[in-house]
Amino acid sequence: MMEQRVIISKHLQTEIATAISECEHDKIFVLTDETTHEKCWPVLAKQFGLRNAYVITIQSTDSHKDLTSLSHVWKELGDHGATRHSLLINLGGGMVTDLGGFAASTFKRGIDFINIPTTLLAMVDASVGGKTGINFNGLKNEIGVFNNARFVILDTEFLRTLDDKNIRSGYAEMLKHGLISDEKHWAELLNFDLSRPDLKQLQTMLAYSVNVKKHIVKKDPHEKDIRKALNLGHTFGHAFEAFSLDTPNKEPLLHGYAVAFGLICELYLSSVLTGFPTDKMRQTVQFIRENYGSFDFSCDDYDRLIELMHHDKKNTGATINFTLLAGIGNIRINQTASDELIKEALDFFREG
Ligand code: GLY
Repeated sequence: MMEQRVIISKHLQTEIATAISECEHDKIFVLTDETTHEKCWPVLAKQFGLRNAYVITIQSTDSHKDLTSLSHVWKELGDHGATRHSLLINLGGGMVTDLGGFAASTFKRGIDFINIPTTLLAMVDASVGGKTGINFNGLKNEIGVFNNARFVILDTEFLRTLDDKNIRSGYAEMLKHGLISDEKHWAELLNFDLSRPDLKQLQTMLAYSVNVKKHIVKKDPHEKDIRKALNLGHTFGHAFEAFSLDTPNKEPLLHGYAVAFGLICELYLSSVLTGFPTDKMRQTVQFIRENYGSFDFSCDDYDRLIELMHHDKKNTGATINFTLLAGIGNIRINQTASDELIKEALDFFREG
């Protein structure tokens, strides 16, 4: 895979100009969704290098991360003269960077692309590390390829337009990076005031957090081994997310909230199975409860949640695959747990 450069922005205009100059760009296309077209594109539109760019806009939200939007992007590229030497700049959240990355990776067998993520979740996770794709046949990220954006430019100024819940959602992935990296970073994350986020401090922590992911992805780009560390909190988390989507009258959980709740359960499993220190588990759990609230389900839902965990694409064969911790930064991939213990973790979550 081509090397990916992640730039923590100091001067967006210069960084975009540099990135463009280092990519093939006989024509420049910008992909936005309806939201980023309204809220973020005006910031970039004024810039000299982008004045002649052709803007493609797709509908917002994950439900449009599909073949229809993808084929619209391919068609727009083709109809407006994109060649193998053209450039696509993806401006948006994870839905735009995932779909745009896949469109660019497949159009004429692949053109260069740059990601400019506009949500915290996309900055800290989706836009970095080369996972691209779309949802298909009712399954999330079912079709896609690993292919790096040439550049990822991170600018927390875009977060000014993001609501509180979406900041918290992205922050959950930062919390995960703290848990799988080192104690100092983890402690700094637990001390951050999420109710009044200081964007400057957030940018510094974000730089560290993205580096945690970058180092892991560099060692294992195709998730055969240590990249599975990034799945901490996601086995329970994906089940909670799917459960909230499938259950009538339940408000869909934002991804990061589901991950935060998943972290509570998986730290509990870690404390029982791999010796994660109970005091650190309690501190993390307290931070999550204070900042993310809770998620309501009953013991009658346990079998359904376990069934959803069985459908997770991270599993091999019939066993549910967990990433657990023996301590902060002390990662144990490919762990299993009995149904009884999984239910105990759900009890622990509900007892709160
Ligand atoms: N979102 C986890 C990963 O990129 O591997």
